[in-house]
Amino acid sequence: AIDPHFEENRDVAEHHEGHRVWGPVDEPEKLGIHGTHVAVDFDICIADGACLEDCPVDVFEWTDTPGHPESDIKADPINETQCIDCMLCVDVCPVDAIDVDPG
Ligand code: SF4
Ligand code: F3S
Ligand code: ZN
Repeated sequence: AIDPHFEENRDVAEHHEGHRVWGPVDEPEKLGIHGTHVAVDFDICIADGACLEDCPVDVFEWTDTPGHPESDIKADPINETQCIDCMLCVDVCPVDAIDVDPG
């Protein structure tokens, strides 16, 4: 599962589409965590898609990640500033790849 304390345990490695990427990043095998308020651990995501289907405000969009061992697309929290903290995505992700920090 995603580390809920990733902000203390990781450093910002880069930015992508306006959000932070928390490292380590070593493409294509190691991609880190995308987003901060809505955070997706790309190294855990298996592209199940439930988060994209269920988010009421369309926070997520697919991002291509060719060569990653778990899946070659990932749910990217492109619109994390729109999040209304309903926690649906956290509940439906089968591999616990998502952390949302209300507050
Ligand atoms: Fe969307 Fe709710 Fe997840 Fe926020 S907590 S990203 S609004 S599903
Ligand atoms: Fe990935 Fe979980 Fe969404 S596996 S696509 S973050 S439901
Ligand atoms: Zn991203």
